Amino acid sequence: MSVDVLLGLQWGDEGKGKIVDFLAPNYDFIARFQGGPNAGHTLEFDGIKHVLHQIPSGIFREDKYNIIGNGVVLDPVIFMKEVTQIHDKFDIQLKNILTISSRAQLISPVHRLLDRVLEENKGDKKIGSTLKGIGPTYQDKIGRHGLRVGDVLSESFHDKYKLQKSYHDYFLDGYYNEQFQNEETQFFDSIDFLKQFDILDTEYLINKNVEKNKKILAEGAQGTLLDIDFGSYPFVTSSNTTTAGACIGLGISPKKIGEVFGIFKAYCTRVGAGPFPTELFNEEGKQIGINGNEFGSTTGRPRRCGWLDIPALKYSVMLNGVTKLYMMKADVLSDFKEVKICVGYNYKGKEIDYFPSSIDSEDIEPIYKTFDGWTSSTNSCKDYDSLEENFKDYIRFIEDKTGVNIKLISLGPDREETIYIN
Ligand code: GDP
Ligand code: IMO
Ligand code: MG
Repeated sequence: MSVDVLLGLQWGDEGKGKIVDFLAPNYDFIARFQGGPNAGHTLEFDGIKHVLHQIPSGIFREDKYNIIGNGVVLDPVIFMKEVTQIHDKFDIQLKNILTISSRAQLISPVHRLLDRVLEENKGDKKIGSTLKGIGPTYQDKIGRHGLRVGDVLSESFHDKYKLQKSYHDYFLDGYYNEQFQNEETQFFDSIDFLKQFDILDTEYLINKNVEKNKKILAEGAQGTLLDIDFGSYPFVTSSNTTTAGACIGLGISPKKIGEVFGIFKAYCTRVGAGPFPTELFNEEGKQIGINGNEFGSTTGRPRRCGWLDIPALKYSVMLNGVTKLYMMKADVLSDFKEVKICVGYNYKGKEIDYFPSSIDSEDIEPIYKTFDGWTSSTNSCKDYDSLEENFKDYIRFIEDKTGVNIKLISLGPDREETIYIN
């Protein structure tokens, strides 16, 4: 009787969407527990590529039920677009396979505007937000004047919206232009659309099904190093992206957590601002970006690239209680004669092997161990035994350092390009 959790161990974009879709046949329910349309989860199968922002990644597998949990922030406009697109492209009726928590928070045009104005005012201290209104929506939630999905069913929804907006008038005075008014109209249209979906107290739905021994997979968004408490603050998102966030974001007891699948790339990437100790500014960094097609799935921005960082990975394993590691995108490093792994840092004159709570990029220098690369293509590798010995050394080193076994190796974006190690 447990819920398994799948989440990212780095700065997001580890490949969560691909693996949720890969694992979904083993589950009855797939549930998103935090974040919102700042996420971009890419799935590839049968020659089709699709990016999901707001909707869980279990929708392409038959007989799976998908849940948008209470910890999520939902933009009804983006939701409506996504649902319509999926219907038109795949002929899937999401109404039949998707439920939304009445407690999930609504992102309104006011939040998107606030996000933009706040970022603009930060100048060179910008976080590099996706500008989807995530921070301001979670602020209103914690400030106890959030609009919840369940509110759309109430006759006083308009009044609640107006009241929430009025709290921001002092800051946004002068920004309510024609474009904003159009966005408000769109928002109310999308609220009508949203009402057609099952809006439930999903904590009951989930717990009842846990009792019935149904299998539930909690899908994380963003990554551990973007967690509001434990990430590289303030360059983080505004939710708890860790296993504990799955408990809060779905309403399940910590006792009900089963496996925790921690996903990481064989290297590191980051999109947006903030410290990144192993970032490469040379040709190797560029090559990783080109081989890995490292452009943000939500904003299209180029992702910053660097070597794998063991202190950061160990920190994420510890925070999440990871039981199985899943390594993604090792195919991207196939071109490299040598690959490196950061095993510690020189930080402010001292050698350390932990991930500090505040990192000043100028003062941190990674200490690397160099490995011989796996120079032949991984295209033909279909099982663990077919991997080059150098590749296996790389895997064993990570397992040894983290104390957790790597149980899945992803060697391409497609569902099929996946090796599961028993
Ligand atoms: P998510 O946000 O964690 O779901 O990850 P994204 O979808 O934002 O980014 C991962 C990108 O890498 C997507 O473009 C995937 O199609 C792609 N991808 C996933 N796994 C692999 C892999 O093993 N190899 C390669 N080359 N690409 C992969
Ligand atoms: P997935 O689920 C990568 C980053 C943004 C920015 C910071 C704050 O696809 O892995 P926000 O919009 O939350 O205010 O932005 O977090 N960020 C992500 N980076 N993948 C994501 O999601 C991200 N969601 C937010 O770039 O630096
Ligand atoms: Mg992504």
